[in-house]
Amino acid sequence: MILTIYLYTQYRAMEEESQRLHLRAIAESQANTLDLFLSERLINLSNIIDDPRMPVPATEGFLNDAINKLQMASAAFVDLGCFDASGKPVAYIGPFPSLTKQSYASENWFATLKEGRSNFVITDIYLGFRGIPHFTIAVSRVINNRFIALRATLTPEKMYDFISSFEGAKQVHIATVNKEGFYQLVPPSLGTPLKPSAFMPLKNPRLGVSRISPKTGAGTYVYSWLNKVDWALIVQEARSREVDFFSDLRTRMVIAATIVFIILIGIIFVRAGKAVESTIKFERNRLQLGQAAKLASIGELAAGIAHEINNPLAAIGAEAGLVNDMMNPKYGETMTPEEISSHMDSIQELVLRSRDITQKLLKFVRKTDVKLAVENVHDLIEEVLNDILGHEIEISKIQVERNYECKAAEILTDGHQFQQVILNIVKNAMDAIGEAPGDINISTRCDNNKLEIKISDTGKGMSPEQLDKIFMPFFTTKEVGMGTGLGLSVSYGIVKALKGDIEVQSEAGRGTTFTIRLPVRA
Ligand SMILES: Nc1ncnc2c1ncn2[C@@H]1O[C@H](COP(=O)(O)OP(=O)(O)O)[C@@H](O)[C@H]1O
Ligand SMILES: [Mg+2]
Repeated sequence: MILTIYLYTQYRAMEEESQRLHLRAIAESQANTLDLFLSERLINLSNIIDDPRMPVPATEGFLNDAINKLQMASAAFVDLGCFDASGKPVAYIGPFPSLTKQSYASENWFATLKEGRSNFVITDIYLGFRGIPHFTIAVSRVINNRFIALRATLTPEKMYDFISSFEGAKQVHIATVNKEGFYQLVPPSLGTPLKPSAFMPLKNPRLGVSRISPKTGAGTYVYSWLNKVDWALIVQEARSREVDFFSDLRTRMVIAATIVFIILIGIIFVRAGKAVESTIKFERNRLQLGQAAKLASIGELAAGIAHEINNPLAAIGAEAGLVNDMMNPKYGETMTPEEISSHMDSIQELVLRSRDITQKLLKFVRKTDVKLAVENVHDLIEEVLNDILGHEIEISKIQVERNYECKAAEILTDGHQFQQVILNIVKNAMDAIGEAPGDINISTRCDNNKLEIKISDTGKGMSPEQLDKIFMPFFTTKEVGMGTGLGLSVSYGIVKALKGDIEVQSEAGRGTTFTIRLPVRA
């Protein structure tokens, strides 16, 4: 989007610059055309006054011939009059004969000629006595000591047609204004002759770009002052063209931006698909890792379990040997059926106990998916401490204390996974304490949302560097065969899957505390 806006502004600036150059060229060439037109009209009129056949003052008959010649040169000529030094028309040919009664002595153009400031005048457009916009070209001579002036009026429409007939004129507005900023030649769509315009070009430079004052409108225009008369030619880009041009550009920009947008969305979809895939892969790995960790902790447990099964087996062996001996006639001993039955009962009981142990092991090994159920956390912890670790704790010098403060310890969770976490942490605590006497404290607290379980030990603790790494898979400080480094990384994964979190505090030489927080409603 930013790129689109940037390109759009750049393109606009470039387009505006080239547009300005284009308008400048039009202004320059059309101003020249207009100057040339006025010069030619001036020459047409000078040719008449310099004609040696002209009577002084001119007669109507002469002027009649003359106006025909002028109108052949340009259709803009309307009438022609001859004036003497008093400013009175002495002869007139044209559609306004009533004007011959007027005195022009006080008119600006006449005064300029009479006072000899110039021998020609081209006026601004004015309404004059006749009330129609027109302008005047007048020339004067002094012939045989007599002042004489010839004056022709011209219609501006023809001139306007003349300067606005070039190719490409439809895409621009062309007008002329006088030095007071009043319209001279102007198309009806833009304004009315002699009415104030929005354009007030500077006198210097003669050709330039200017801005319409914000009060009267907006936009830039190009102007060029004429040489023959104090008019400035104004060229401005026509609105319709501007709108066309920009709406077209805008459509193109929107299409381009949409295409880019669709491509980006496509890329995002493909990428997101890949991300989901890799998350699934990661999750699968995590489950496999969990399985591996379980097998590893089974390895660790195996020793204790072997011991627990060995005892009943030894007892069974002894009982069976005893019965066997009793039955042997060479010893001459006899056994009552009651005695045999009692021995068989104790064998049966020992077998049942062994089966109980193996069943607990099996229950733990079986892979289970997350199965949520309402579980009592205290019962789950007790099962780990008694059934799985009972023997190991018994033969160690470790005291396990409970501080079960939570009154409503029923939470919605996966009991089996939860027990794995507790088992891993308690096993680590026991390892940290080792052969020496020590304490493990398990406490629970809860509120409406969270249940918190703290497991502290008085073991060897950890350095800060060690703390940073304990949740990484395969990080272990234990001897080969004693640790896999999987216990905590798997526990972390489980606690996260149960939407809880796990935290450690530890100090080398003093002990470690693991804190697990679980949501009450998973
Ligand atoms: N209670 C604890 N006290 C001291 N160190 C611990 C404790 N719990 C874990 N650790 C450290 O974290 C490491 C990683 O533990 P774990 O992931 O369970 O793997 P493992 O027990 O197989 O080494 C352990 O090797 C040990 O250095
Ligand atoms: Mg461990």
